[in-house]
Amino acid sequence: MDWGKRNRIARMFPGRSGNTVMLAVDHGYFMGPTSRLENPRATITPLLPYADAIALTRGVLRTSVEPSTTTPIVLRVSGGATVLKEDLSDEALTTSVRDAVRLNASAVALSVFVGAPHEHDSLVNLASLVESGEEAGMPVMAITAVGKELEKRDARYLALACRVAAELGAHLVKTYFCEGFSKVVEGCPVPLVVAGGPRLDSDRAALELAFRAISEGAKGIDMGRNVWQSDHPVPMLKALRAIVHDRATVAEAEAVLSDSKRDR
Ligand code: 5RP
Repeated sequence: MDWGKRNRIARMFPGRSGNTVMLAVDHGYFMGPTSRLENPRATITPLLPYADAIALTRGVLRTSVEPSTTTPIVLRVSGGATVLKEDLSDEALTTSVRDAVRLNASAVALSVFVGAPHEHDSLVNLASLVESGEEAGMPVMAITAVGKELEKRDARYLALACRVAAELGAHLVKTYFCEGFSKVVEGCPVPLVVAGGPRLDSDRAALELAFRAISEGAKGIDMGRNVWQSDHPVPMLKALRAIVHDRATVAEAEAVLSDSKRDR
């Protein structure tokens, strides 16, 4: 792998743990003003110091993040469908690698929709993004999207989707945690990070998800709603960091959460 790409990846996986805590705030590109992300700047600003990377679109990057930030940018470059349509898989590449370089992104990210009506298009988009990424030294993160079919989040499906993404050249894959997650990790030769999915019942449930994902081989998390839809987003991100970087148990992470709530 060339130096530029290695450097970009290394910056997203800092510190001794070699893992990453990414903050996902790209939901608006198909969901509109998602609850508690209505004003992206207000949501992002307090969380940014605790994120190893931030995943977002160029629109939100330009309008809602100060250019002086040193946090690595994972730029969402696919889109073209919204929640108003039944089929979310009808996506194209919406931002060029050239613009990603101009925006000083550390990686570009796109969704792949395995098994969906536009499976073929999304996989060809991935292959083409990898081609342009290779030319520019830009890592590509594939996101194994499930559209509205949340029940697809099982090990058999996710192992297939992650493996296909890695085979087509993705340097990183973002997927969901599931029962039997270690099988997904085993079959995927590139690092996996896990999304949180829709808000869970409690902060503890989200910490448990992160703990189990890291214990079973994820190299990090790329969470959104379970951070900024929590009533305590910054303490929550600090607690997740304890799990991802310090191998804290769920109980230890809950203590970080409580201490941090008290300090605020
Ligand atoms: C949206 C995404 C999100 O970035 C991803 O799902 C992570 O966010 P959350 O933890 O809220 O699921 O890719 O398409």
